[in-house]
Amino acid sequence: ATIKIDAGRTKKISDKLIGIFFEDINYAADGGLYAELVQNRDFEYSQADVKGGNKAWKADFAWTLEGDGGTWEIRTSEPIHENNPNYAVVDVKQPSQVALLNGGFDGIPVREGEKYDLSVFAKQLEGKGGKIRVSLVQDGRVVAQTTLKAPKSDWKKMTAVLKADADADHASIKVEPLGTGKVALDMISLFPQQTFKGRKNGLRADLAQALADLKPKFMRFPGGCVAHGDGLHNIYNWKETIGPLEARKPQRNLWGYHQTKGLGYYEYFQFCEDMGCEPLPVLAAGVSCQNSSDRGHGQQGGIPMDKMPKYVQDVLDLIEWANGDAKTTKWGKLRAEQGHPAPFNLKYIGIGNEDLISKTFEERYLMIVKAVKEKYPDIVVCGTSGPWSEGSDYETGWRLAKDHKIDMIDEHYYQTPGWFIYHQDYYDQYDRNGSKVYLGEYAAHTPGRPNNIETALCEALHICGMERNGDVVAMSSYAPLLAKEHHTQWNPDMIYFNNKEVKPTVGYYVQKLCGNYCGDEYIESTLSVNEGRKGVRERLAVSTVRDSKTGKVYIKMVNLLNHPVKGKLDLSSLKDRFGEAQSLDARLHVLTGNWDDRNARPKESDIKVKPEFDYELPAYSFSLIEI
Ligand code: AHR
Repeated sequence: ATIKIDAGRTKKISDKLIGIFFEDINYAADGGLYAELVQNRDFEYSQADVKGGNKAWKADFAWTLEGDGGTWEIRTSEPIHENNPNYAVVDVKQPSQVALLNGGFDGIPVREGEKYDLSVFAKQLEGKGGKIRVSLVQDGRVVAQTTLKAPKSDWKKMTAVLKADADADHASIKVEPLGTGKVALDMISLFPQQTFKGRKNGLRADLAQALADLKPKFMRFPGGCVAHGDGLHNIYNWKETIGPLEARKPQRNLWGYHQTKGLGYYEYFQFCEDMGCEPLPVLAAGVSCQNSSDRGHGQQGGIPMDKMPKYVQDVLDLIEWANGDAKTTKWGKLRAEQGHPAPFNLKYIGIGNEDLISKTFEERYLMIVKAVKEKYPDIVVCGTSGPWSEGSDYETGWRLAKDHKIDMIDEHYYQTPGWFIYHQDYYDQYDRNGSKVYLGEYAAHTPGRPNNIETALCEALHICGMERNGDVVAMSSYAPLLAKEHHTQWNPDMIYFNNKEVKPTVGYYVQKLCGNYCGDEYIESTLSVNEGRKGVRERLAVSTVRDSKTGKVYIKMVNLLNHPVKGKLDLSSLKDRFGEAQSLDARLHVLTGNWDDRNARPKESDIKVKPEFDYELPAYSFSLIEI
């Protein structure tokens, strides 16, 4: 193959092409990225969280009583907050003979020498009461312990720091009232102090770092389907996810579990800021999941039109909360009180997710989009293309995008390797004067749903096509992002994890290479293949971009064939880079393996590149040259 880079033919492309899409699916939030170690800390699990019901899944889930010195029950009268109605009451008959135990999400991982922030809301309801001892225990061994003061007769938050004096992989938290009588307990919470950037109510450092290492240019959240839920009562309401944790409104997660909302809008925006990327919140378009019925709540599809003005106002309020002045605006003031006086500088907002493009949808969607553009003309509104269908755009969100000049449209497709191979030109024909594209969800799916060299190279192939079309494709994000082992509803995902390990996939490394080595200028290149066999050209791709700030040039080459391809690279047009030099120092990154390899990792080496030189593309490989 001959690869000729033509530095004389360039075009401006998006500098935000590679981002991430965080959705709470596969226990990505509670039990995952959100560093809370206590499961069901608020006693708000409910049978309704789980589709088809699960008898054990209720307010006492994950909690057990140890010892026979008393009993416990769930109560709801006079809770800490109406959004958090359930709490536990332990009735102690024999002090030190009874305790509540919680094993976290598959055990609480504890590291020797690390400190953990404990907080508990408590009040003494009856009896003399006394102090409360809190320990981290594993197999009868205490690895950390502290004692809280005796609670009073009103709810009070008590805090302490626990320091572990040994490792334990699956510890439990033990809460032991030392006095007698009835003591009420709620919001029993434990966080490692070492969270990402040391934030309180923060994120698991190793997982968050793996995401930050992708160098995403933006983060879309909170879904996906989680954004619109599977019924009007399940729409994700951003206002219920900010402020004190005990006042946030927990919710059934449509993927079949429970969301505490401890990882809410405040934390999402903070995380974006900590990663240095743009937040892209997605709000329901006034309809629930693909206009699904409202699970027996009596309303089909959309929010009733007379309630839409309030819903539209909620969307506008989000923009004010994110960007409004901390002193002069209502929502900006609230953001400041919550700990972030400076605006978050929100630039993008998503409306809708894969919605069926029906009359119900159209009315509500356009109402929201118009209101946002009217009040905030500079905010980029990202609409939806609807459920993916190839071909005609008549019944998709693209028709609305054209008619109403919507800034950007979110497309989703999960396709076979064959589809990706034969659709390298997918965006070549897209209208350059219409809405921009955000490919918000995509991944190569093959039987058994692995994430391996074959799927990862298909995604690399597609990114080359997106870079070539980076004048119309503004953003993209692989989906889904995170999956906890043994709690996975969807495969493949980009990063698997358990309580101790982060397990990036092969596809993660494609995203990481493309996210780290990206540009804002596309340099045309031609790829000529000597072999005429059908399917050969389609399995090869090249894309060259330049970062105008650093002057660095990145050449990406994909070979999805089962044999190496001898390549002749012609870089002679990069005259300004070579000057008088015969060769330049460059760095080569190669990701290669058998087609079904799930453990391949990129290897790096120093190379010299010349105006013309030979480079052999290994079988099943993604090569990236950094000049
Ligand atoms: O990424 C998983 C799901 O796929 C998303 O929630 C939804 O938007 C799509 O159908």
